[in-house]
Amino acid sequence: MMGQILLITGATGLVGKALVKHCLAEGYTVHYLTTRKSKIITQKHHKGFYWNPQNNTIDTACFEGVEVIVNLAGASIAQRWSKAAKASILSSRTEALALLCSTIKAHKFPVTQIISASAIGIYPDSKTRYYDEKFQGTDASFLSSVVKSWEGSLKPFQTLGLKTTALRIGIVLDSNEGALPKIMSPIKHYLGAALGTGDQWQSWIHIDDLVQLFMFVLESKLEGVYNAVAPNPVQQTELTKLIAKQLQRPLFLPNIPEFVLRLMLGEMRAIALESQRVCASKIQDAGFKFEFLELEPALEDLMA
Ligand SMILES: NC(=O)c1ccc[n+]([C@@H]2O[C@H](COP(=O)([O-])OP(=O)(O)OC[C@H]3O[C@@H](n4cnc5c(N)ncnc54)[C@H](OP(=O)(O)O)[C@@H]3O)[C@@H](O)[C@H]2O)c1
Repeated sequence: MMGQILLITGATGLVGKALVKHCLAEGYTVHYLTTRKSKIITQKHHKGFYWNPQNNTIDTACFEGVEVIVNLAGASIAQRWSKAAKASILSSRTEALALLCSTIKAHKFPVTQIISASAIGIYPDSKTRYYDEKFQGTDASFLSSVVKSWEGSLKPFQTLGLKTTALRIGIVLDSNEGALPKIMSPIKHYLGAALGTGDQWQSWIHIDDLVQLFMFVLESKLEGVYNAVAPNPVQQTELTKLIAKQLQRPLFLPNIPEFVLRLMLGEMRAIALESQRVCASKIQDAGFKFEFLELEPALEDLMA
């Protein structure tokens, strides 16, 4: 709704920047919370506020006029998973939600809905399963347990009477940031190769579709858990081949074996090797129309 004030956390990241740009163009006013004071700007319709969930600091002025929160905050998983990094990947997500919730409760702010990022990493690694939101299991992997706790941190908002929505986001494809430029770089330099066995499923989404999906959920006030992936996931070899095709580069190296990835990336190799084939039907059945259903046109658009 034009004129509505949104509060967005993690607004300075890959997804947040694209979402904020779209919301401002659509006539929303955006308040955002940032942990970096240098990122605060103050304009009429675009205002930054400082917070630090680690030590329970939050500028409560950010809630003024806000009905809906979009929560994207979380330390990046694309870092070596040391003990400290793992702790921060988890706590940055759970503590951010806990601080938002306790602040709303303490000040009785009239927020009606929270739409939070979640991730398909909640689904156990599998080359054969096709995951929809009804699937209840998780596994003992680091990512699955982080996402389970992250989604669990939305429950207290329900107790306060807010609608809660979790979007289980797949691999976000964007021209400048995230997975795509990282995969493109070795291929550009004739060093491209599929990772591991190459048959692991990668459920992706074009950044423009993800932004539209957040808007769709916001405008239709959808509640519950939704996968945020394009309807046609691909296997890793296919992803690598299609990127090489766009770059007009040959792929002549053998797949990079798992033990090499273990040496290069440590436990974080799970990001490249885990397989999640994830279904988009629930959001489509709710009426959402993807612009990019297939990977090849999505890559053509992003890599043009
Ligand atoms: N990109 C993907 O492929 C993908 C896939 C699945 C799920 N997701 C999830 O979607 C969300 C947005 O993704 P993204 O790619 O935009 O992430 P991103 O680029 O890493 O941005 C996340 C933002 O979170 C904030 N942040 C970082 N550390 C924090 C901390 N310790 N406490 C509070 N805030 C912190 C930062 O904002 P400030 O510095 O301004 O505080 C940062 O800009 C993330 O939670 C991510 O896990 C992303």
